[in-house]
Order: sequence, then structure tokens, then C-alpha cells
Amino acid sequence: MEVLKSKKILQDFVERQREMGKRIGFAPTMGALHEGHLSLYEEARKENDLVISSIFVNPTQFNNQEDLAKYPRDIQRDLEILRKSGLVDAVYVPEVIDIYPEQAKSDNYDFGGLENEMEGKSRPGHFDGVGTVVEELFRQVKPNCAYFGEKDFQQLAIIKKMVEMRNLPVKIIGVPIYRAENGLALSSRNQRLSEDRREASKVIYETLLKVKGWFKEHSYEIIKEKVKDIFDNQHSMKLEYFLIADEKDLKEVEFFYNDRNYRAFIVVVVDGVRLIDNLPM
Ligand code: PAF
Repeated sequence: MEVLKSKKILQDFVERQREMGKRIGFAPTMGALHEGHLSLYEEARKENDLVISSIFVNPTQFNNQEDLAKYPRDIQRDLEILRKSGLVDAVYVPEVIDIYPEQAKSDNYDFGGLENEMEGKSRPGHFDGVGTVVEELFRQVKPNCAYFGEKDFQQLAIIKKMVEMRNLPVKIIGVPIYRAENGLALSSRNQRLSEDRREASKVIYETLLKVKGWFKEHSYEIIKEKVKDIFDNQHSMKLEYFLIADEKDLKEVEFFYNDRNYRAFIVVVVDGVRLIDNLPM
């Protein structure tokens, strides 16, 4: 596996691959790698000649400086995981200057309103930061296909929108959420939870499964009350939001129509760690 430590080294590598007519699959990350990331690479291997990943903790997508400071960083551990997996041909590990040559600042995007729902309300400016870094990475890596986890479903929708708006020649592929045995969605943030708390957090996925069952039987108001009751009774957990939205525009629903696809979204803070999850209805 090649470790590409600057924009120049990456671009030379990409140039060589493209001259050989290779199809590039790309999965960007912020490191703290886990099986969820490996599932992106596995998907990427299926339809490309080579897989490139990147590890870059993007400062512009953190609206909270404390969150940025606390973000787990262990590049040696990550490189070891990548080498052992044998799934990645090259990893791009840029410096801030390779991505933001002048100033680490986001562009302002209009994602057609997608950015104002859910996470956009809780994390102002977050999706401008994501759009900026992903667009720049696409311009540098020039992938044919790029892979993103469905855990960050809103991010996935926004990246699809950005590619369409900017007319970028890359196909975006969403990869289903990778879950621990107890159902907890894998996330780099899980590392900040004790084993005990990780086990207790399975209630998040269990709740989503219950919601899927209730979806056909109960009104939205009743479903919301039931979810609230579950988390009112959980020790050290705070339900930040739960809602069901149309998958297309991510707007919270009032009524359900048969010909639309809905998804339940949930954010729970467990011992100060913000966990997000979702499930199609
Ligand atoms: O999902 C992530 O890890 C990040 O938001 C991404 C897409 C790598 C951009 O920094």
C-alpha cells in the first residue's frame, strides 16, 4: 500500500493510474478506522481496479472546537489497519495546506435546502465544511466512484447533490450501515464510550426496529411519544432528536404516503458522546 503524503505525490500517482486506464474507487475518511470503513473499501473493490482512501481530519466541518480537539487521531494505528486489511492500494494523508492552500475556510453552498434539516440545525456550517473538503478531494483524486456510509445519510444526500450541481464526473455510492453484534452503528466516536455504555447504547437500534414495526400501525405523534418514553427511562442518555423524514428532501413528515420512501433518524447523547443512527421504514 502506498502512503501519499502530499498533493503533488497524490497527483503523480493518480496520473500514472489514469494513463494505465485504471478505474479508481475512493473512500474518504477522517481516520479512527473501524470495520465500517473496511466495508466501504470492500464495496469499492468490487467495481474498480484500485481503491484509494484518504485520512484527513477536516477542520472546517467542526462547528465545535472542542469536538475537533477531541477527535481521535492515531495515524500509525490507521495505517496498520489498512495494511492488514489488504483492501486499499493507496492512502492519501494530506496536510491542511494541501487541501486549503490559503486559509482553512469553507465555501458557501446551497444544497437545495437539504443542509437546513436535521444535522444542519444542530451543527451550523457543518455541511459547508463537508462539501468543501469532499469537492477538493474529488478534484485531486479524480475517482470514478466514491463510497460513503449510510450512517451519515444526510451527508450522503448532500454529496450526491453537490456532484450534480458541480457536474463532477464521479458516481456516488451509499453503503449500508455496519453494525456491531448488538446492533450499535459503528462510529469512530464509539471509542469514547466505556464497554458498558456501548452495550447499553444498543437501545438506539432496538428503538429504530420498534419504530419500523409501529410505522404501519400508529400515528406519527404516537410513535414520537413512544420513542421519547424509551429514552426518558435510560440512564445517562439524552434523546437529542428523533424524526421520520422523506428520503428525497429529508423534510420531517406530517402524513405518510404509500408511494414515498421514509427513513427514521435519531440522535442520542450517551455520556456526552453524540451517536447518530437511521433506518429505512
Ligand atoms: O464522513 C466523514 O468521515 C467525513 O465527513 C468526510 C466525508 C471524510 C469528509 O471529511
